[in-house]
Amino acid sequence: MRKRNVGLIALFAAGSVAVAALAQRAGHSRAEGSKGTESLQRPPLAKNEAEKRILDVLDDIHRNQFRGWNISPEDGRLLRVLTESMGAKNVVELGTGVGYSSIWLCLALQSTGGKLTTYEIEAHRASLARENFKRAGVNGIVALVEGDAHEEVTKLREPIDLLFLDADMDGYVGYLNKLLPLVRPSGLIVAHNMVRPPPDPRYIEAITTNPDLETIFLLMDHAGVAVTLRKR
Ligand SMILES: C[S@@+](CC[C@H](N)C(=O)[O-])C[C@H]1O[C@@H](n2cnc3c(N)ncnc32)[C@H](O)[C@@H]1O
Repeated sequence: MRKRNVGLIALFAAGSVAVAALAQRAGHSRAEGSKGTESLQRPPLAKNEAEKRILDVLDDIHRNQFRGWNISPEDGRLLRVLTESMGAKNVVELGTGVGYSSIWLCLALQSTGGKLTTYEIEAHRASLARENFKRAGVNGIVALVEGDAHEEVTKLREPIDLLFLDADMDGYVGYLNKLLPLVRPSGLIVAHNMVRPPPDPRYIEAITTNPDLETIFLLMDHAGVAVTLRKR
């Protein structure tokens, strides 16, 4: 039995080395995989020039700008898949940072014909984000609101397809209370940092005990993401 385990481990190790070698040979550098998925996950492939331009800027931001603050590439790919698959037209993001997660959202929105409204309180980060939006060619579909999101979001009126929470974590409950009425039926609320930093237990309570909502937790081997559906 032990011999069989040793054999399996050797096979797995050889497989991982072979996959890593293949990836290296193919020049893959984007979106390093998480521990659990790295043997299966491949980097995103650009379907056209617009997508290539966006992926290149994402790669550059991930390597060179505020790496610890930004979501991971895997989180970004999740945002893109959710946003694009639901055909989202109106996405709201709290916590722009330098625009890394915003650009992942825009990767989806440039194909759905939608738009992003994103909020950032810190002027220097907002200015870097604006530059990054231009570099990625998505500035035409993003409105960056500079200021305290707690106040600014009260001006929103349109139904929201997807709401992404990634600002002050003790504010998540307040954001949810203010914006849930605007999230359309079958819309999503995606909240970042469900593992680290530790989430506000009041937010977890709010999204897991309301019968109008269905919540799943994903990518918990990264910072952790809660995906909450507003039921019809
Ligand atoms: C974790 S960073 C966002 C990272 C970004 N979502 C990404 O992954 O590229 C959180 C951001 O929220 C901003 N923030 C914190 N409190 C805020 C508030 N009340 N209103 C607007 N932005 C806020 C911070 O300045 C910071 O840039």
